[in-house]
Amino acid sequence: MAISFFAERGLFHLTNGKFSYYVQIHPSGILLNPYFGAYIEDIDPEQMGRIGGEDWFSHYYCHTDGREKEYEGLYFNASPMLFPSAGGADVRPSAMEIRGARNNKLDMRYVSHRIYRGKPKLSGLPYVRDDAGEAETLEIVLREHVKDIKAVLSLSVLPEYNAVIRNTEFINKTGKPLRLERAMSVVQDLSRADLDIVHFPGEWMFERQFRREALSEGRKVISASAGRSSHEHNPFVMLADRDATETFGEVYAASFLYSGSFKCEANVSKVGVTRLTMGIDDEHFSFAVADGESFTFPEGLTVYSNRGFEGISHQMHDLIRRNLIKDNAPAAYRSVLLNSWEGCYMDFDTEKVLALIASGKRMGVELFVLDDGWFGRRNDDLRSLGDWHVNEKKIDLKKIIDACHENGMRFGIWIEPEMANFDSDLLRAHPEYAAVDISSDPWLSRHQVMLDFADPEVVDEIYGQLEALLSQYDIDYVKWDHNRTLEDYYSAYLGEGRQDEFYHRNTLGYYRLADMLTTRFPDIHFQGCASGGGRFDLGTLFYFPEIWTSDENDPVQRLFIQYGTSFAYPPCVMGSHINDDPVTCYRTKAEIALFGSYGFELDPRRMSDADIGEVNAVTEIYGKFHDDVVLDGDLFRLSSPYDGREFAIDMVDKQKSKALLLVVGLLKKPRTRRFVKLRGLNPWANYVNSFDGKVYSGDYYMKVGINLSDVRREFDSRLITLEEVE
Ligand code: GLA
Repeated sequence: MAISFFAERGLFHLTNGKFSYYVQIHPSGILLNPYFGAYIEDIDPEQMGRIGGEDWFSHYYCHTDGREKEYEGLYFNASPMLFPSAGGADVRPSAMEIRGARNNKLDMRYVSHRIYRGKPKLSGLPYVRDDAGEAETLEIVLREHVKDIKAVLSLSVLPEYNAVIRNTEFINKTGKPLRLERAMSVVQDLSRADLDIVHFPGEWMFERQFRREALSEGRKVISASAGRSSHEHNPFVMLADRDATETFGEVYAASFLYSGSFKCEANVSKVGVTRLTMGIDDEHFSFAVADGESFTFPEGLTVYSNRGFEGISHQMHDLIRRNLIKDNAPAAYRSVLLNSWEGCYMDFDTEKVLALIASGKRMGVELFVLDDGWFGRRNDDLRSLGDWHVNEKKIDLKKIIDACHENGMRFGIWIEPEMANFDSDLLRAHPEYAAVDISSDPWLSRHQVMLDFADPEVVDEIYGQLEALLSQYDIDYVKWDHNRTLEDYYSAYLGEGRQDEFYHRNTLGYYRLADMLTTRFPDIHFQGCASGGGRFDLGTLFYFPEIWTSDENDPVQRLFIQYGTSFAYPPCVMGSHINDDPVTCYRTKAEIALFGSYGFELDPRRMSDADIGEVNAVTEIYGKFHDDVVLDGDLFRLSSPYDGREFAIDMVDKQKSKALLLVVGLLKKPRTRRFVKLRGLNPWANYVNSFDGKVYSGDYYMKVGINLSDVRREFDSRLITLEEVE
């Protein structure tokens, strides 16, 4: 049993044998979370709950039925709460908030529980899958102390991960309409205040940069507030021991399965405790919940590691690969891709595309993707988003697809379903479909507007168009883009008084369309994209097994982007292409792109035979190592590009029989003597390496390392293969 209940002590223990998560029902019914950490057979909540200082100040007293009552073991703003209330004594960030009742207080208390095999499957929202039926769930029903408001809190564990998956359902039974103003999917209290926070800020073409800073008293807020998870921040953070490293120390990670605006707060209070919350951004969120109705929070996730950041990454990578993404077209993962965007932008016709396809053969291209510019009257970014029919004056799509298939290539196409231009047949016929108030002089971005995906009719209209396109043509791959933020919105469908529901309902519309299309076309491989990596999150990965990591293809910038992205997300979900940026040679560009879903973003006709030769040598390694090592293996970050000297990673297959090592120098003279020590090999196995052809034990590679003293130019790289030998 993963979940036990000690009834006489009101104590639950959630575990997989490697970590422990304890939940305590305080005699008041308030739920505490006294411990989350390495596995421990039992805890003493009473001893753990004590805090120093003036008890009269910090204790909970309640005025019940005209009498004063002391709640022992509960302290203002100090006790580790599982479902922290709002509007009451705990002024730290709460789990949820309401308006519209007699008062705003939400004092949620235990009513009942059940433990069951399996876990919630959300309807209309992404969730961690448990297809193998391995999960176990503790479901607790809570009720507000005096109001008829309920919450169903589900905490699930899966045997493979030191993780708690959290679901919350808010239920209004008050007899009148309420507004839900805050819905936090993650709430994690830790009885300590000596933690660093690691988060991943960035910008367009420089997404998910690694940042680490010490938390101290007060709140650190990380948020995205323009309708998508964003380039600027990512809904994944870690709290770590101050001295935690890649391989050492306690680290707690949090994420949630959501692609809209979000807010994460790390709150350190004066008594020395830390609360981490993550959920829908509450600054533009106010959701009407009528009497008898409920609201489902997006699913949240907390992960624990006592072996540094690597322990978190390995669990996140496995969880994403095994329990989140679903791909019925896995061959597309290993297909060498050629995307038309940087090669010709929107300037193409049938002949030009056929020429690209033909020249792609020289580089072993297996999947050709026709990017923006094939539909409506689109030759620039001023028009036609919303009109998803082929521009037959410009291209013969069937001929192009046939040419791909005849050349043994798959065919992919670009779409941007959630957007429209005013210059489109769609908005000419239905101006109300645009999510803007035209009377307010709305701001445009890239000349386009967001469609009102809060309105089911709009989603159905776009589904109809795309269903027709994908049924008519033999399309194997879809790149699903999203090229503007959603500020300055207005939903005619929602009307006055309900505009603050837009962001969330719009995100639900995105999920609905993604669900309908991926269900209708299960064999199509979808790549998510949002001006590069503006929607790189677990919510998107539930529907699309791969995301375009960044519009930045400069390989050196990419090192930083892929490094930061790798803390939460496995390389196989990162779209990663070679372009014609001259900053490094083609070999280095290819070696960096290989740690991802590999391909090209250029016009192959402009490449010399020598360039193609360099790339093809790397593509051969890709073909041999991708499935076991990159797609399925474990990643080890050996040195950080932020150290300024070199970037080094290795990846090892699960059997520990093959590995890839990539080292990229960032300085001309990084060190005179230079050994790169690998991780993750079998110490007792012998491996031959492709650098000097020698055979050493795994132990040797990990303790002594490979001597790379001769690699002495900036941006020079070495991709080294290791294969087990007798
Ligand atoms: C976004 C994408 C690019 C490309 C263009 C097309 O910027 O990230 O890869 O598809 O849109 O307009």
